[in-house]
Amino acid sequence: MKRTNYAGLIDENYLEQTVTLQGWVQKRRDLGGLIFVDLRDREGLVQLAFSNEFNEAALQVAENMRTEYVVEVVGTVKSRGEGAVNNNLRSGKIEVQVTDAKILSESKTTPFYIEDDINVSDELRLKYRYLDLRRPEMQRNLRIRSKITAATHEFLDENGFIDIETPYLAKSTPEGARDYLVPSRVYPGSFYALPQSPQLFKQLLMGAGFDRYYQVARAFRDEDLRGDRQPEFTQLDVEMSFMNQDEIMALVGEWVAAIMKKTVDYDLDADNIPVIEYADAMRRFGTDKPDMRFGMELQDLSSLMANSEFGVFANAVAAGGEVKAMVVPGGADHYSRKDIDKMAQYVTRFGAKGLAWLKVSEDGITGPVTKFLKAKEQELLQATGANAGDLLLFAADNASVVAATLDALRRRTAQELDLIDQSKWAFAWVINWPLFDYQPEENRWIAAHHPFTMPNEEDLPLLETTDGAHQAHAQSYDLVLNGYELGSGSIRIHQMAVQEKMLSALGFTKEAAHEAFGFLLEGMEYGFPPMGGIALGLDRLAMLLAGQNNIREVIAFPKNSKATEPMTQAPTPVAEAQVVGDLKLTAPVYADVTAPNMAEE
Ligand code: AMO
Ligand code: AMP
Repeated sequence: MKRTNYAGLIDENYLEQTVTLQGWVQKRRDLGGLIFVDLRDREGLVQLAFSNEFNEAALQVAENMRTEYVVEVVGTVKSRGEGAVNNNLRSGKIEVQVTDAKILSESKTTPFYIEDDINVSDELRLKYRYLDLRRPEMQRNLRIRSKITAATHEFLDENGFIDIETPYLAKSTPEGARDYLVPSRVYPGSFYALPQSPQLFKQLLMGAGFDRYYQVARAFRDEDLRGDRQPEFTQLDVEMSFMNQDEIMALVGEWVAAIMKKTVDYDLDADNIPVIEYADAMRRFGTDKPDMRFGMELQDLSSLMANSEFGVFANAVAAGGEVKAMVVPGGADHYSRKDIDKMAQYVTRFGAKGLAWLKVSEDGITGPVTKFLKAKEQELLQATGANAGDLLLFAADNASVVAATLDALRRRTAQELDLIDQSKWAFAWVINWPLFDYQPEENRWIAAHHPFTMPNEEDLPLLETTDGAHQAHAQSYDLVLNGYELGSGSIRIHQMAVQEKMLSALGFTKEAAHEAFGFLLEGMEYGFPPMGGIALGLDRLAMLLAGQNNIREVIAFPKNSKATEPMTQAPTPVAEAQVVGDLKLTAPVYADVTAPNMAEE
């Protein structure tokens, strides 16, 4: 029998029509001689009614129906009785009186009920992911994700982008995260690496003259997982020739606007996405991905506090550090001394050595450090704009500890005080990034974005020396949404001379550079166009648009926080022969292949 309708889409417009439906039993209520079944499919629920009055055989079938059985029914759409209307359902005014029914498959009792807001562990949800995905929320999440890629294909195709796939079995290159490796069977001891991004290939495609490339590309990075990081994730990856940074940002803005329209019907003003310099983002928000849905900007009190009676503050400034404060509106009443002690404990993870605070009331400032700061009370209130009822939080340390501390407190307190407008989509471009980034743990400089990022035109002379290069800034741009890094891109180096200087400032010898990315450097010698691009994190975008706070919620079969997949149990041990590529054991087809240079034969 052919399905005529989705259960969840039937409403009073279908009255008196005969429909054939297929789906899952959500719930069965047996009233004796009358059975109601809620039938579920991807679009929602509809109530089925079985009775001798409608069909005797169908009623008998319904007696055997249980939750999560797959069933097929034929019936007539009828109005529900006055008192039986359910306004929470699209189909809530009608029911289907069943005249024919069949059980297509039975189901064991599921480990959790198929509905939203279930209270079970993530591990159980992932083990039975196919059941978890039946839940309406998950169905919705994955459809939002699909809308994003659909809007992407549509917009980029209309704008002349060509969808080109690049290899997943690729060459291991240094920099970035650890690679996932795939042993070669044909060349024992050699490995492919799964790509961390299509970066080098897309630059080569520009060299090949495609001019505008895009790909919905899987990327693989063996790094520690977080709520917004998975070992494999998807990039909406683009690259363009002969376009400068402003032109690329404008086009990406239009693309994102097309996505927002199609997925959440939001009109993003693509021409007016706020643009903020990296240095200003750090200064005002303490982070390179500021959540601009709310204010609470950091206030620099270093010069005010340089001669403070409060040793902690004066010493921090004397040591070349900073004193910064943040006003938490309405925080004075909301947070007890004990709460603030907990906050102080929390920020030790960012290196903070304490958390000075003041409460502001009509009568002035109060709190344990009042005695040190009373003399500067008026200047302090003026500089921070704090009012009665507010809480002032202070961090005094080197710039990076101060930034990390106050960034975390800004987001945490705004959340706790419900100061974030959840209906806002706060996009922002962060531009003018440092070209290099110092890694204190490893005592070395790495490329802040990647080694192919073009320095600012006026900073090119700085590349002549390594120290100079480390001070340079880049033609790179991040797209931020609601405090998440959504995408990251840059103008690329397209001239060998500049690329060589960059690699040398990164500490590569000529030989090492050629071993690592020789194919790109060689390509660059055959006339590469000026180019730039960006990759948006599809998982993060889908997570935000679906209102979730972990990218697992928008990935059908994600890894858990320990990088394993509870349903299939991957990763699993494999036979030794699969790892070492023992030809005798695993390669009947290639039995005549003996030497690694067979490609030339
Ligand atoms: P980048 O490394 O910044 O840039 O990656 C681009 C975007 O991909 C997303 N992302 C992730 N999402 C989920 N899990 C992860 N582990 C993960 N890592 C990154 C982020 C990020 O902004 N080739 C460059 C892009 C370019 O220059 O064109 C690149 O890969 O949203
Ligand atoms: P102390 O003088 O160490 O007793 O600290 C007095 C107050 O200043 C306490 O509330 C500490 O939490 C706070 N404090 C100490 N060090 C810092 C710092 N580096 N930044 C901000 N507050 C601090």
